[in-house]
Amino acid sequence: MCGIVGYIGKREAYPVLIKGLKRLEYRGYDSAGVALLNDKNNLRVYKTKGKVADLEQYAADKDTSGCIGIAHTRWATHGEPNSNNAHPHMSFSGDLAIIHNGIIENYAFLKKLLQQKGIKFNSNTDTEVLVQLIDYIRTKKKTDLLTAVRIALRAVIGAYAIAILDKNNPDQIIAARKSSPLVIGIGQDEFFLGSDASPIIEYTDKVIYLDDKDIAVITKGKPLDIVDINNEKTDHEVKTVDINISQIEKGGFPHFMLKEIFEQPDCLKDCMRGRINVEADNIVLSAIIDNRKHLINPRRIIIVACGTSWHAGLIGKLLIEDFCQIPVEVEYASEFRYSNPVINSQDVVIAISQSGETADTLAAIELAKKKGAFIYGICNAIGSSIPRATHTGSYIHVGPEIGVASTKAFTGQVTVLAMLALALGKERGTIDNMKYVKVINALSEIPAKMEHLLEQSDNIKDISRIFTYAHNFLYLGRGYNYPVALEGALKLKEISYIHAEGYPAAEMKHGPIALIDEEMPVVVVATKNILYDKVLSNIQEIKARHARVIAIVSEGDDTVRNLADAVIELPQTEECLEPLLASLPLQMLAYYIAVAKGKDVDQPRNLAKSVTVE
Ligand code: F6R
Repeated sequence: MCGIVGYIGKREAYPVLIKGLKRLEYRGYDSAGVALLNDKNNLRVYKTKGKVADLEQYAADKDTSGCIGIAHTRWATHGEPNSNNAHPHMSFSGDLAIIHNGIIENYAFLKKLLQQKGIKFNSNTDTEVLVQLIDYIRTKKKTDLLTAVRIALRAVIGAYAIAILDKNNPDQIIAARKSSPLVIGIGQDEFFLGSDASPIIEYTDKVIYLDDKDIAVITKGKPLDIVDINNEKTDHEVKTVDINISQIEKGGFPHFMLKEIFEQPDCLKDCMRGRINVEADNIVLSAIIDNRKHLINPRRIIIVACGTSWHAGLIGKLLIEDFCQIPVEVEYASEFRYSNPVINSQDVVIAISQSGETADTLAAIELAKKKGAFIYGICNAIGSSIPRATHTGSYIHVGPEIGVASTKAFTGQVTVLAMLALALGKERGTIDNMKYVKVINALSEIPAKMEHLLEQSDNIKDISRIFTYAHNFLYLGRGYNYPVALEGALKLKEISYIHAEGYPAAEMKHGPIALIDEEMPVVVVATKNILYDKVLSNIQEIKARHARVIAIVSEGDDTVRNLADAVIELPQTEECLEPLLASLPLQMLAYYIAVAKGKDVDQPRNLAKSVTVE
């Protein structure tokens, strides 16, 4: 969602801001803008609908001087994507420019109030209300900007990460956050701002993550000053970010998504490193050791997540119930947060999130915490809001995921869930040792098997070309592979805009079969496991209705090969780990179909990488 970049120091701000916006493009956006201030108190705002490249073109013949500036990519919520609604927004006096990520929920009320005071609005956004309110307080009460910001933020309901420039103070940026992420990079006599660390790491690895209700006064040549909304000073540890530039660049691949698909063998090695021992017969998760009393004997586990992370949660449920014999429920965080769940201190809530910033998942955590549950986070983005809001957790350690469609984060989440289920099952004595060692062994072999699978990418590319005609796809799987079918369908619809549904294969007869004809390809995960024969019957039923079948099968399966129109073979593994392998060809299939259809794979329309609003 919206991206924020800021700079104050000795360099020309504009190139730093533009580069930073490009690093944040992965978040998804529809317009971009920049505000620049030079030492002649000349504040200029340039903004436009479209991409950062459009902004560059628009500003090409304009004055972009100044060593202080803020910049933004907007993902429209209030008001359509156009240059008027793009950020930065100026206040009525022409003194202040603001950029904002989040939603001001009581904006309509505040707007009416300000309009009654005679303030005119230039956009349909909730953000403009905030800058007008700050300026109104500043001029009416004759206060300094920090005081006006503090008072205004107390009146605001909602989520925000903001940065403000003041024409009268070319040495200062004021930034604040609540429920939307904001990072300050600390350089040599210079500061950077970012929605995440990616626009910053090129210049410095020293960062401070702002906490909720923090307001930072960032002044050129002075130490950082951070207060809370009541003007109390707050202390922050300077953290070192462990991300290098190559991780956020394409490294020779045409898209981030393809790079991330191919990174998965290495990502999973990183994810397991230090957790699975060299003999591959034991797992140590520090979160379990440190929180044994909360985790060892819960009444039940509730997994909360959204989208792809929710699909990982469905696999987590099967793993935990199988190895730990603890009942598990999997909830959409967005539904959970508005329900009245029966939770108490005997429950454990596992929150899964790649970005660590998903607004619904954060709200679900807060609700569960209030009710006394113990919260375990499974996240990728280090230092993000969700790991900070949970009691404990495990990072998936797959490196920054830039492509909007989640790939390596999904397999990282499933890997952590498998390790968690195994380690907890061992502690509880609910998994026998032979099975425990066998599954760990198989888990440690997954990266090599993924490598082998990735060698089939040309075959999958060829298959994908045949299916670009389709307007609808059905994905079927059973048991551990049912969430794989859901995830495969989600990948396809996200990036190719082809409608796709995932179903448990046996449910086909209860409705979806009515749709099946020669126009509707069906992707079936039909590996040789306990339900193989039943899935085989489903394939026969599909073929009897003349649909084309793409089958994901176990190596050497000629029976399905003879029935299906296209076949992708999976190396043999334990059934509970099949999702780690079966999801790869489905990611590739979605990717190659989208590419063949000429779609913008890394930034699909309307989607955001980090869903920081409801
Ligand atoms: C799909 C995808 C989304 C996210 C969802 C939750 O490819 O990426 O469905 O999984 O928005 O995001 P996180 O995991 O960041 O909480």
